Amino acid sequence: MKTKYDILIIGTGIAGLTAAIKLAENTSLEIGLITRGEKPEESNTYWAQGGIIYVGSEDKKISDDIQLASKNTSYDEAIKVLLKDSSRILNEVLIEKAKTEFNKNEDGSLAMTQEAAHSIPRILYNADATGKAIEISLLNYINEIKNISILTKMTAIDLITPAHHGVSIHQRYEKDRIVGAYVFDQEQNKVHKFLAKKTILATGGANALYLHHTNGLGARGDGHAMVRRAGGALTNMEFIQFHPTTFFGPVAQKRFLLTEALRGEGAKLLNPKGERFMKRYHKDLELAPRDIVSDAIMTEMIENKWDSVFLDITHESREHLETRFPTIFNHLLNHKLDMSKDLIPVVPAAHYTCGGVKTDLDGQTSLKDLYAVGEVACTGLHGVNRLASTSLLEGLTFGHKAAEKILTEISDNNFYEGEKIKDWTLSKEHFDMSLINQDKMVIKHTMWNYVGIKKSRNRLLRAKAMVSELNTQIQKFYKDAVLHDDLIGLRNSVEVCYIIIASSLRGHQSIKESKEK
Ligand code: SIN
Repeated sequence: MKTKYDILIIGTGIAGLTAAIKLAENTSLEIGLITRGEKPEESNTYWAQGGIIYVGSEDKKISDDIQLASKNTSYDEAIKVLLKDSSRILNEVLIEKAKTEFNKNEDGSLAMTQEAAHSIPRILYNADATGKAIEISLLNYINEIKNISILTKMTAIDLITPAHHGVSIHQRYEKDRIVGAYVFDQEQNKVHKFLAKKTILATGGANALYLHHTNGLGARGDGHAMVRRAGGALTNMEFIQFHPTTFFGPVAQKRFLLTEALRGEGAKLLNPKGERFMKRYHKDLELAPRDIVSDAIMTEMIENKWDSVFLDITHESREHLETRFPTIFNHLLNHKLDMSKDLIPVVPAAHYTCGGVKTDLDGQTSLKDLYAVGEVACTGLHGVNRLASTSLLEGLTFGHKAAEKILTEISDNNFYEGEKIKDWTLSKEHFDMSLINQDKMVIKHTMWNYVGIKKSRNRLLRAKAMVSELNTQIQKFYKDAVLHDDLIGLRNSVEVCYIIIASSLRGHQSIKESKEK
């Protein structure tokens, strides 16, 4: 199997795929795209329901909307990049190349919907499965590009830094450089050394660390943990965004999202008394920024010991809902709810990691030759709370920009000599799979109960003590155990939880950092 690529991209969501397309087209560069998933489409992009912002030339309000949602903690320079470059990239990559299908108006123009905290409708969508349409169209486009290889069931374990391989401390350039990654091949139970001139992390967020979340199961902080172990910088890790409305159905591995576009198109939030409670929390009611709505729902639930609140879209006809929100309509019908007649029980769930691997506005991390794009990265765009439907746009824009930057510098790089890098030593001790699952559940409950929407210093300190002890145990166990994707994920999860807790305890300091970046 080929393990030497000009560029290694870890992760196959919108950011990784966009970067790969830009790097591969009209060049002879060899691009290796790896994913731990069984299928390339297994990514958070695939699950995104709502849509992707299109920043029109007339749109004078987008900066204010992003800043309002984030309480003025978004980084202005990152917003400027969206204003300047995102529509060009969206047109080029999604509309012209991948031919992603978006809903259209009767006159053939692109239809735009609205979500919470947006002052105008500016969101392109494909019914209620926009991410799926984008992901599949990008993958179909990539299938025709010969110099991109996609390898599935490959779990990145650690970034390779020459510093870890006996390079003299005086060779600073070499020492801080990332030259590829150790990758666990799930089929062959082997670890490969993937070497690359440049490495791009596009591994997504860390929201699956919570008991209730909307993400794919791979959102376990793999990229964050790898960067931290390699000595790179993370920032704003406490800024976990909770989505206000997920279906309060039977407990599943992930909670089913009920897109904010429902509220954008008139759905109301009611408490079990039938009261439209958002009027007590914000002038914009259900269309207040996400953090405010999530917090209001939790307050209602905690103060009244309610299991959930309700989303009401019964003013719309069944015919309309079946066409506009087909995924949601059918999901609820499978749970014996007809959303044109019934109230939908909803609870908030962890949804997006606004902080992440610290990057500049070309995706460059603090480690040489390592880029990070999409949810794993923190460009500062989202501040403490992300405006709805900015995430796909950020992944697309900064994935493309990182590739543009790499193209200007790749010719200066050579491969690092692979022989200098030691082979991975496989441990032999068999482990009890149920222990891994139990540890995972302890982590998820701890994060949900003590590091969730309602945080306090006491809760965080309790979480810190629990996670710290678990971390010690897991690291001991990891060292000797036979490698497995779940075990790699468990180690990353516990490390990233610790980082989130420590950042939360530092609190407001990070907000300042994000503005001063
Ligand atoms: C949603 O559809 O509500 C999610 C969109 C987003 O997270 O930006």
